[in-house]
Amino acid sequence: MGKAKMYKINSVAAFPNVFQNPHYTQPVLLNCRQEPLQLKGKWRELVFQNNNPLVLELACGKGDYTIALATLYPNVNFVGVDIKGARIYTGARYALENSLRNAAFARFRIENILHFFSPREVNEIWITFPDPFPRKSDAKHRLTAPGFLARYREILSPGGIIHLKTDDANLFRFSCETALEAGAVIQYCKEDIHSSPPDFPELSILTFYEKQHIANGRKIHYLRFTFPQ
Ligand SMILES: C[S@@+](CC[C@H](N)C(=O)[O-])C[C@H]1O[C@@H](n2cnc3c(N)ncnc32)[C@H](O)[C@@H]1O
Repeated sequence: MGKAKMYKINSVAAFPNVFQNPHYTQPVLLNCRQEPLQLKGKWRELVFQNNNPLVLELACGKGDYTIALATLYPNVNFVGVDIKGARIYTGARYALENSLRNAAFARFRIENILHFFSPREVNEIWITFPDPFPRKSDAKHRLTAPGFLARYREILSPGGIIHLKTDDANLFRFSCETALEAGAVIQYCKEDIHSSPPDFPELSILTFYEKQHIANGRKIHYLRFTFPQ
């Protein structure tokens, strides 16, 4: 591993706005003093000290949506989730340097999300450019596979919304199908969101990967759905 990556991974462990799962078998997150915290059901109270809505960005990478949305909506709490500390570092550092107190980051495998969020604790979920896992045999690892949707449904509050942005047409189609099969109602579905002016401001936020996909001439797909109560 390169020195720069190692530095970021070590630094992020000491950031007060980052909570890390030491091992996937342990349902705890560590704070910057490496103390175990039970944040499940207590993100608003213990991390943000308010009762504002809670929004997650899953597969957040450098946390572009977490940062941009936290800046746009100071009265909403945002948590970016990814397994890679060196990527989280960028967003977490920006949030600290710019006193974005409504943005935090968590490092854990999204498979274990039920360890860290309570039923109905979350208002919205953004899934931004998740790995497409093109092989059929890997479909269960896609972050919109039925097993993941079932977990998201559990932690979402009534009327909670899931947003997906992807450049991958197969993943997009798969996600529409799995959402419908899970009983979701599709609220918005567009295959090329940058071909016309955005219908709402959140769509014009660009992630690190999204900028590369656009430069390579790829279309960006967006899907928004909810589960009826
Ligand atoms: C293609 S990158 C997208 C990053 C960012 N959203 C962007 O658009 O720039 C996918 C990210 O998902 C993360 N990831 C993939 N599977 C994951 C999982 N099961 N749990 C947590 N993070 C995961 C990877 O570490 C990676 O940062």
